[in-house]
Amino acid sequence: MEFDTAFLNTELTTDGIVVRWSDGARSRFHALWLRDNCPTGGDKRKAFRTFSVTELDPDLAVVDAAQNEYGDLEIEFSDGHQSTFDIDWLRDNSPEPADRVRRARQVSYFRAGTPLAQLPLPQPGTAEHCDLLDAVAEWGAAIVDDVPTGEAGTEALAALIGRVRETDFGRLFDIVVEPEMWEFSQTGLALDPHTDDPYRYTPSGTSILHCVEVSTTGGDSILVDGFAVAESLLDDDPAAFDLLAEVSVPFIRHRTESVDQGEDVHLLAHAPIITLDRDREIAGIRFHERSMAPFDIDPAIMGDYYRAYIEFTRRINDPANAIQFKLQPGQAVVYDNQRALHGRTAFGPEGGRRHLRLCTIDRDQFHSRLRRLREDHDRPGVHERLPIGSLS
Ligand SMILES: [Fe+2]
Repeated sequence: MEFDTAFLNTELTTDGIVVRWSDGARSRFHALWLRDNCPTGGDKRKAFRTFSVTELDPDLAVVDAAQNEYGDLEIEFSDGHQSTFDIDWLRDNSPEPADRVRRARQVSYFRAGTPLAQLPLPQPGTAEHCDLLDAVAEWGAAIVDDVPTGEAGTEALAALIGRVRETDFGRLFDIVVEPEMWEFSQTGLALDPHTDDPYRYTPSGTSILHCVEVSTTGGDSILVDGFAVAESLLDDDPAAFDLLAEVSVPFIRHRTESVDQGEDVHLLAHAPIITLDRDREIAGIRFHERSMAPFDIDPAIMGDYYRAYIEFTRRINDPANAIQFKLQPGQAVVYDNQRALHGRTAFGPEGGRRHLRLCTIDRDQFHSRLRRLREDHDRPGVHERLPIGSLS
């Protein structure tokens, strides 16, 4: 949402100022906050600072505040320092909770039948490039057409989002049926919806599943909106929701041999299934039933925790919450791995070879690119508070 940054007046208070904006809102600014953020102290966005908070007088006050002929706000402090603030900057950075709400995220939930955004592979830096990342940020997933099926095609799509994350699975991971099964995904078995990498302190952020070859029978892709499912649980059983959001449980991946496609690992992370941000909004999902280590939580809450976990898992596996589709060669689905849970239906050898290529990018890379594209294309939401993801 764009702010109307015209302001009517400022009022001195005991600890700073209150700015009254022409849209009726009021924003409080503490004297120490203003002095710390004075533009003469350098540019925090570029980490180029010549001012330290150690120079602040803890009892600093504002002694005068007035708008100058250019519309900027001029402030005089009790230590004699004078600052000039750009009004747009003040409104954009205001710590007032109401202003933070106005920078709230734009998230739309999906469930069975919701059409996903679908667009051709865009050229870097174009409005269509911004459309793709906007769609993934809002809906949690989007389908991209016309992605050349070679590895260069996967890399080209990934480069639109950020740097590829290299893990013990490698840079690109081919999901095909292997006679010597080493990874569960290398079978024709159905996979229940899950997030990848729950056993890492920082799971993958954005994932790409790129279809190279398709099975004519089965092997459909499934996506479930973990945010929507979590919110449905919050509505129906807040106590169960709180347990999943507040209790950390262990996720594990332990493999003692290394093979061509993956190294030996012993990864273990404790985290809640649902991560909330500081405003208690749902910000990340970490969920993979096969990766749960034996719960090492307080036995006194074990029964209640299990009941909440069972209910959440049932909802995740409920077809009413799932989008099901079959990717064709040259199509890819781009999804938020810490929100949109992915799975697949079973398939057999009779339908031909099925080959998907997986590649992941860190969450901060995706959000960084999204903000830069929004800036370049003058889109609203540059200051949107994006979901922080699943934290431990
Ligand atoms: Fe997976």
